[in-house]
Amino acid sequence: MAWRSEILDWLKKLTVIPGPSGREEGVREVVASLIEPFVDKLWIDTWGNLVGLKKGSSGEGKLMIAAHIDEIGLFVSHIEDDGFLRVVPIGGIPERTLLYQRVVLRTRDGRLVRGVIGLKPPHIAKPEELQKIPEMRELFVDIGASSREEVEKAGVRVGDVLVFDRDVAELMNNRVAGKAFDDRVGVVSLIKAAQLLEEPKVDTYFVATVQEEVGLKGARTSAFAISPDAAVAIDVTIASDIPGVAKAEWFTRLGKGPAIKIVDGRSASGLIAHPRIVEFLISIAEKYKVPYQLEVAAGGTTDASIIALNKEGVPAGTISIPSRYIHSPVEVVDLNDVYNTALLAKYFAEEATPEWLREIKGRVLK
Ligand code: CO
Ligand code: ZN
Repeated sequence: MAWRSEILDWLKKLTVIPGPSGREEGVREVVASLIEPFVDKLWIDTWGNLVGLKKGSSGEGKLMIAAHIDEIGLFVSHIEDDGFLRVVPIGGIPERTLLYQRVVLRTRDGRLVRGVIGLKPPHIAKPEELQKIPEMRELFVDIGASSREEVEKAGVRVGDVLVFDRDVAELMNNRVAGKAFDDRVGVVSLIKAAQLLEEPKVDTYFVATVQEEVGLKGARTSAFAISPDAAVAIDVTIASDIPGVAKAEWFTRLGKGPAIKIVDGRSASGLIAHPRIVEFLISIAEKYKVPYQLEVAAGGTTDASIIALNKEGVPAGTISIPSRYIHSPVEVVDLNDVYNTALLAKYFAEEATPEWLREIKGRVLK
């Protein structure tokens, strides 16, 4: 497992950097430095997406592989006279995951400010208060300041962003826990796939997208610019193989390989993966003996669902990395799944031909 230490190292590097939606520049810088040796061209577009292009030998056809670099977080919305910060969410960050968490903020001049989300201790809480989860507007961040002036002197301003303050913890069985694995594990796979990809026949665009957590925005603009013939997003999905969830609802399981998504969610915003992409991914996984599972999920979606709607439509699918406790500071993934996701993405890009890309598009009947 020569890949293990490298993947773990990249994951540690990428997860510690605060990068909530709209504030991805720190993460993007590190991704750029890691992926740069493996691509022919590299640029940042107007919206902030990082795009790396590996040229195809045929000079025809475009494949897009996307993983988002943003994470959930909080905006500072108000500073109290006594130095506490009030916050509003960035993306889906439920109140119950915030209680008693450590959070961190990077000021405009680069200083790190740490804080905690405190609560009234049980000793003085009313019995009914102990039963319920406070609302976002009741929560506050304590950075240790005792006045608004101290907060300002520390460089903190309304509009600054906070994220969970957590290191990567190594668990048993090659499993790791940490924050922002959604979707930094996908980004790690993306970089690894770029490294492993040797001679693609079609142009392969590796895109580190921004603002996924607030509506798949970076994927929309980058897909428009690239205009791919086919696309795959790499993102986490729900590994529900935990106590309290009926086995029929174990959408994916940790360590059983990347999940080839069939469908996620039944809403207008969800994805029904293109059947030709699904079949292609399955055949590639079989051919190269990459372990995989099939995913029929109940909710959530990925960049693929917006890329699919680009221009006249793009055949798109998702390779999912099973993750437990998504959108928390203790998301858990299996490093084998991360590596196998990179392998599957690499083979996908390697096996795609201009002929296949033409074949999966629309056709003239008369
Ligand atoms: Co997410
Ligand atoms: Zn995600």
